[in-house]
Amino acid sequence: MSLNIKEVLIDTIKEAGALILKRFDTEFEITAKEGINNLVTEVDMASERLIRANIKSAFPRHHILGEEFGGEVEKSGYLWIIDPIDGTINYAQGIPLCCVSIGVMKDGEMLFGAVYNPMMKELFFAEKGQGAYLNDRPIRVSEARPFLNSCLVTGFPYKHPEQVDIVAIFAEVASLGIPIRRLGSAALDLCWVACGRFDGFWEFSLNAWDIAAGYLIVQEAGGKITGFQDEEMNVFSKETLATNGHIHEDLKSVIQKFI
Ligand code: IPD
Ligand code: CA
Ligand code: CA
Repeated sequence: MSLNIKEVLIDTIKEAGALILKRFDTEFEITAKEGINNLVTEVDMASERLIRANIKSAFPRHHILGEEFGGEVEKSGYLWIIDPIDGTINYAQGIPLCCVSIGVMKDGEMLFGAVYNPMMKELFFAEKGQGAYLNDRPIRVSEARPFLNSCLVTGFPYKHPEQVDIVAIFAEVASLGIPIRRLGSAALDLCWVACGRFDGFWEFSLNAWDIAAGYLIVQEAGGKITGFQDEEMNVFSKETLATNGHIHEDLKSVIQKFI
């Protein structure tokens, strides 16, 4: 019997989520990666090992790209893109806000996305063309309301881009009186836009493993995701602007003043 990608994806992400939940707030080793404050815990690595082993055993010919153990960007065939813990700083600090994120591409297009936050028992899932779900309930982005009444979320990369003052963008949005949150997990930021908790999200310098699953979940929830110019964005792009669609141009034009 041929194994079903959706089933393997969901079983695997729940298993990895259970692993990180079990080790949460226990003693674990933390090591530094390149850059300041870029950490990895032994649980990140254990989670990615578990996910890779499940994929390899179910689909030995599929390609894998993961944050901790690398991989090639394959444009043909299946490519699984893994963030074994998104929100590692939160995790290492004992802040219960993080997730496992897994996207599956086929021939360069996102086919499935799953993001699981084991602390809140929330599983976000989307399949191309089939809508987006939170624990099996369909989700939609927020309704239209004035930009100034939005609730936004952003993130700051470990290494700030050299040419852009990203803090000035934050200050500009804040100076409009718009509430901004910083959760510390880009994958959850995207999913929380998808389910309407936020109206928009922006961040510079994200990686494919941060975005892959959330990219499809936002689109399937009726949202819009692009770069900061007018270009089409894909999961390998470095700039991410995801909104309910209604405030997209307003938020984009604030960001464009600084790039
Ligand atoms: C980070 C988180 C954070 C974002 C950083 C990411 P990690 O991922 O998504 O919210 O601001 O840019 O690198 O390191 O926790 O997997
Ligand atoms: Ca990440
Ligand atoms: Ca990570």
